[in-house]
Amino acid sequence: MNSQFAADINDWFNSHVDTILPDTVRTFPEIESKLEHIKNVISYCRILGKNLDWSENNIQIAETIGLLHDVGRFTQFIKYHTIIDADSVNHAKLAFSIVNKSGILAPLPFPDRTIILEGIRYHNDKKFGNKVHPESLPFIKLIRDADKLDKLRVAKVAVQEHLNNSPNLQLTLFTDGTVNPKALSQLKRCQTVSKKYIRSELDFRLLQLSLIFDIQYAVTYRIIAESNIVGQLIAILPDEKEIRKTVNKVTKFFNEKIS
Ligand SMILES: [Fe+2]
Repeated sequence: MNSQFAADINDWFNSHVDTILPDTVRTFPEIESKLEHIKNVISYCRILGKNLDWSENNIQIAETIGLLHDVGRFTQFIKYHTIIDADSVNHAKLAFSIVNKSGILAPLPFPDRTIILEGIRYHNDKKFGNKVHPESLPFIKLIRDADKLDKLRVAKVAVQEHLNNSPNLQLTLFTDGTVNPKALSQLKRCQTVSKKYIRSELDFRLLQLSLIFDIQYAVTYRIIAESNIVGQLIAILPDEKEIRKTVNKVTKFFNEKIS
């Protein structure tokens, strides 16, 4: 991939956003947060690629996936007035179809084009393993990690702003300080907490904490450890027996990953 192509993709992205979004919608928090998220995911793709000693070409492919992975969010929001997939569409499938139909990747050779399309399509799908070309696997793992690093960055900002001052944009949450036992039980089993179990602000913090169970690269764990977000999320949980037991499991899991 040459730098001219990277610039062309960038231009395409900007004009796509301009075409889809009226000026009045561009400043909606859902949209602003997604634009910021995309920018950050691109830089996490580069950071991870560098740490993994990837070639400049592969880093540029990863950055392109970062740029395009959430491009479906804008059409999703305009069409359904939400960025919650469960209430609308799978935004990764939508992004795949938008990019595929645009023909913008046509100048790229195989496997680069396939890698980018599969990176977009499976960035939010845990079960990507058997469905993709082997060449795509390292890139899907990388975009999934870069995506989570930015979600954890958002978590850190929210924790620092003392939770309720920074309402989550995607979910309507009760802030009654309770924890859904089903969310807690998933966390205890070292599973990613399902969005359907999110009822309170604290459940959402459990979900953010549970992102660590689906990290692909050791270097990503190191970056998470440096940010200290795991400790900060744990520190805001209520001091209750069941929560303490769960936190011990999470801490053990995380310490094993970073040791
Ligand atoms: Fe996404």
